[in-house]
Amino acid sequence: MKKRILIVLSLIFLLLAIIFFLNPRSIYKLSDKTAQFIPQQAIPEELISLKARDCGVCHSEIYQEWQTSLHSKAFTDPFFTAYLKKDKGDPTCLVCHTPLLNQSPVILSSDSGNYHDLKITDNPGFDPDLQQEGVTCVSCHLKDGIIYGPYKKNTLNSPHPVAYDEKFLKKSQCQQCHEVPSKDFSLMNEGVCSTGMESNSGLWSAKGFVCQDCHMPSVTRPLMKGYPAREGRKHLWPGAYSSQQLQKIFTFKANRSEDTLTITITNSGAGHKAPTGDPDRFIVLDFFWEDENGQHIPLESIEFKRQIVWQPIMFVLSDNRLASGESIQLSIDRPSVSGNLYVNGTYHVMTDRSLKRLKDKFELKNEWDIHRPFIKKQKIDIH
Ligand code: HEC
Ligand code: HEC
Ligand code: HEC
Ligand code: HEC
Ligand code: HEC
Repeated sequence: MKKRILIVLSLIFLLLAIIFFLNPRSIYKLSDKTAQFIPQQAIPEELISLKARDCGVCHSEIYQEWQTSLHSKAFTDPFFTAYLKKDKGDPTCLVCHTPLLNQSPVILSSDSGNYHDLKITDNPGFDPDLQQEGVTCVSCHLKDGIIYGPYKKNTLNSPHPVAYDEKFLKKSQCQQCHEVPSKDFSLMNEGVCSTGMESNSGLWSAKGFVCQDCHMPSVTRPLMKGYPAREGRKHLWPGAYSSQQLQKIFTFKANRSEDTLTITITNSGAGHKAPTGDPDRFIVLDFFWEDENGQHIPLESIEFKRQIVWQPIMFVLSDNRLASGESIQLSIDRPSVSGNLYVNGTYHVMTDRSLKRLKDKFELKNEWDIHRPFIKKQKIDIH
């Protein structure tokens, strides 16, 4: 009997070990369902280069906005650089972080078409300067020598060929990178970064909002000095590094009964789960009471995060992040002294432990602040 159990256990162990070795370490495996490099582009005859700075000679405001965004840092971002080192320079990371083939030192191809036989060859058309620009103007706007944009008509004599692509008005424009499909050896029906999928339901989706509505504020202005004003959008893409954007996520309500205080937390401002994307990230809310003498009494803390088991098979151990429009209630003992209810909120890009590991092992330098307080002593009225 004991022997049988031992054999069964060894077989299970062997199976897990095989899966562990077969399972690619990278969270991202190229397939016909995933993002791919945009094919190599020639410089349109009318322009001097593909660089953002040169588009910015005419589209100066858009250029300045893009420079402040994380898109312009998608290749130089210190956390990306360190993680890329951790993943041994995995070139599949580049299909979203430097999406135009001109930006990549290598070409990725597959004879079978399904990328199980990934071939990596040198790219003779590699432009190292353009690589530094990450998700740059031409990664979104250029295809086959034509600059695509959001306007059906009325574009005046632009110095470069233009055409309309309805994608600019839809979330599919963003989803190609902000959605990682689940891979083999995974028990997750969505990928690790599933912002696109998360935004398919909930409060804002029902109202018809797309990513651009919240991440590219609308504005009416000329595309270039001397031209008439047109309706367009600021190229800002505020996200986790913007306190203003973070402040939009939650609304709080509090009710009191005899001896309990019930706090309702709602994700009323994000069109997806909060936080979304990168699975390292989490949000902590600390509720506290302050009596008339200014004495601080901690009440309750809640952490919104996802825990993923990566090996040997990927699955979600827990996920308490609020979906768009979703609420959660906390019931706590009512403080015995009179006073007011407050909340502090901090967005964490990663844990201190992960940061230390990146520093010690993967040469992380000039890191950005990973603990980002965004709600500072906000008072919650009690009804
Ligand atoms: C020499 C000036 C100049 C340069 C350089 C330039 N553009 Fe333009 N662009 C224009 C003008 C002018 C228009 C049309 C303005 C209008 O209709 O009001 C335009 C229109 C556009 C549009 C709108 C297309 C539409 O109709 O939907 C996009 C998008 C665009 N440019 C992107 C770019 C990008 C990306 C680059 C760099 C690769 C670039 N432009 C370089 C002057 C320039
Ligand atoms: C991540 C993709 C992305 C990148 C990178 C990007 N754009 Fe755009 N761009 C868009 C989208 C989406 C719109 C459509 C906005 C709308 O609905 O009007 C747009 C619109 C435009 C327009 C039309 C005017 C307007 O405000 O809508 C111009 C001109 C333009 N972009 C130029 C640029 C330049 C120059 C850069 C680089 C400095 C750049 N874009 C980078 C996605 C991008
Ligand atoms: C070609 C791929 C690509 C496309 C298309 C794209 N993004 Fe991104 N986006 C990225 C990458 C990569 C980053 C992270 C950059 C980094 O490493 O810091 C990013 C960062 C962001 C961030 C900041 C995230 C944070 O943590 O603060 C926001 C917001 C965002 N994108 C919104 C959009 C929206 C909205 C669209 C559609 C108009 C879009 N993106 C289109 C690749 C893309
Ligand atoms: C109703 C407004 C709204 C819509 C629609 C929306 N977002 Fe967001 N987004 C936010 C807010 C608010 C945040 C700030 C914090 C958060 O939720 O994590 C955010 C944060 C982000 C971040 C930073 C990561 C993070 O969790 O902080 C990314 C990336 C992002 N959004 C991408 C997208 C993409 C891609 C879409 C479309 C598929 C989209 N967003 C649609 C409001 C919106
Ligand atoms: C399918 C497109 C895609 C691929 C492939 C991809 N990323 Fe990203 N990455 C993104 C987007 C979009 C973001 C922006 C924020 C988010 O979703 O959290 C991002 C954000 C990041 C960040 C967080 C940056 C910050 O400042 O917090 C790191 C680190 C990162 N990616 C590393 C990698 C590495 C390493 C690989 C290869 C194993 C990779 N990415 C492959 C799309 C991609």
